[in-house]
Formats: sequence, structure tokens, C-alpha cells
Amino acid sequence: APPRAGCFAARALGAGGPSGADTCPRRAAGALAEERRCTVERADAALSYARFVERFAFSRPVVIRGLTDNAAFRALCTRDRLLAAFGQRRVRLSTANTYSYRKVDMPFQEYVEHLLEPQDLALLGSDTLYFFGDNNFTEWGSLFQNYVPPPFRLPGTTSAYSFGIAGSGSGVPFHWHGPGFSEVIFGRKRWFLYPPEHTPEFHPNRTTLSWLLDTYPRLPPEARPLECTIRPGEVLYFPARWWHATLNLDTSVFISTFLG
Ligand SMILES: *[C@@H]1O[C@H](CO)[C@@H](O)[C@H](O)[C@H]1NC(C)=O
Ligand SMILES: *[C@@H]1O[C@H](CO)[C@@H](O)[C@H](O)[C@H]1NC(C)=O
Repeated sequence: APPRAGCFAARALGAGGPSGADTCPRRAAGALAEERRCTVERADAALSYARFVERFAFSRPVVIRGLTDNAAFRALCTRDRLLAAFGQRRVRLSTANTYSYRKVDMPFQEYVEHLLEPQDLALLGSDTLYFFGDNNFTEWGSLFQNYVPPPFRLPGTTSAYSFGIAGSGSGVPFHWHGPGFSEVIFGRKRWFLYPPEHTPEFHPNRTTLSWLLDTYPRLPPEARPLECTIRPGEVLYFPARWWHATLNLDTSVFISTFLG
């Protein structure tokens, strides 16, 4: 099997760690390279709530820079601080496929030390364990109370957080649900989105990485998704029922605010 751990630079989790040796399959490394093209509309902190509702809330995604300042929360999310505070807590992992079937509980420390590694190209999403959501807000409350969520709400909705940490090349394949925001605390996350009326071509059990390598290059221009890579300091808003798939370009810490 190809070497997995250490394939890509360990930039996330505040580790500032060693840059990975170039031992990974080149195909995968290329897919995780910086992608500068962004076909999702962009806005900044000057975006008013009225404009957000009028142009985006019910009709199209948007990447907004500077909407939240989570420097304090970020400082609590380094690898060392999370392990010190929550290492012994059990977290619930989901398989990284479209209709997440299987859940596995394990101590957070075990997840970080053994499973937080680059996506294995040979693995199915349905065999890849991913930490995102299913958070215990009692045990992790001291952390989440420091998160500053995007200030925009939709009438008649409440918000719920999903917090996660995952290795480079990991992600969730295409699926849809209600509206919400996604923010990256460490790392970079590439997004692919289609409007509700355009069901994408994808296999629900295969990883986003394998879709990117095998399906995406064959798509004619008119069948390509909207896409953008978000970084710390940016949030992506997705409207209800928009199909989306995600790909973590680095080991990443991220949090979503679902409006439901
Ligand atoms: C969350 O953690 C608390 C305190 O450890 C525990 O009593 C509770 O059962 C947990 N909730 C879930 C849904 O696991
Ligand atoms: C996806 O994987 C699940 C669990 O392994 C399996 O039950 C299901 O049939 C698979 N779906 C497809 C379309 O292959």
C-alpha cells in the first residue's frame, strides 16, 4: 500500500509541523494542490443582511470574507489544546459517504493519533471514518461557547453547530439538506455545488477525492459545479437543497452552522 501518513504538509492543527515528504501518489497530490478558481460569488463584511436575504439566502451560495472573527476560537483549536481538553472524550465518527450509514465511537485522542491522516485513494467513502457533527455539546460546551457564528439568520430557523476535524483529501461526497454556513478554522476546504434542479453525476459510496480525479475532468463546461476553496477568515453559505461535496485540501478543523 502507498504510504499515507506524512504524505502532505501538516499545516493544520497549529502543528506548524514538518512538511511532508513527496511520497504520495502524484495523482492525489495534484488534486489537493491549491485551486484558485472560484466560481461562487464572493462578498465581504460590507454585505448587509438585507442584501444577503435578497440575493443569496434563497437562491445562490456565497463566500463571505471577514463576516466573523474567530481568532480566539482558533487559538483553542490547536492540536495540543484540543487533546489536552478533550483527548479522553469519546467522539462519534461517521462514514464519509452520501447516506452516512455507519457510526463508530472512540476517544478523541485515538482518532487524532490513528485516523487523522490523508485520504487513502483505495478506500471507499463508506469505509472512511470522518469526524464531523454528532457533537456532544455538554462535554464540548466550553469550546463551542467561544465560536462566533455568522450573524445572519433566516426567519423561522434556529441554528445548530457541527464541528469536525479531518485529514487532507477527506471530504463528504454530494448530498443536500437545509441551508447553513461553513467555516474553516484551520486548513482549506474546497467546495463543489450544484443547484437543486441539477443532480450531479456521482457514486454515493465513493470519496470526493475519487470523484474529483475520475469524474470531474470528464465534465463538459456546462455540467461543471460551482466551486470555491475557503480558508480561515471566510465562510461559505449554501442555500437549502443545493447539492454539495467537500474536499479538505489540508488536515482541517471546521465548523458548520446549520439553519433549520
Ligand atoms: C454527552 O456527555 C454527557 C456527559 O459526559 C453524557 O451524560 C451524555 O450522555 C452525552 N450525550 C450523548 C448524546 O452522548
Ligand atoms: C453503499 O455502501 C453501503 C454500506 O456498505 C451499502 O449498503 C450500499 O448498498 C452501497 N450503495 C451503493 C449504491 O453501492
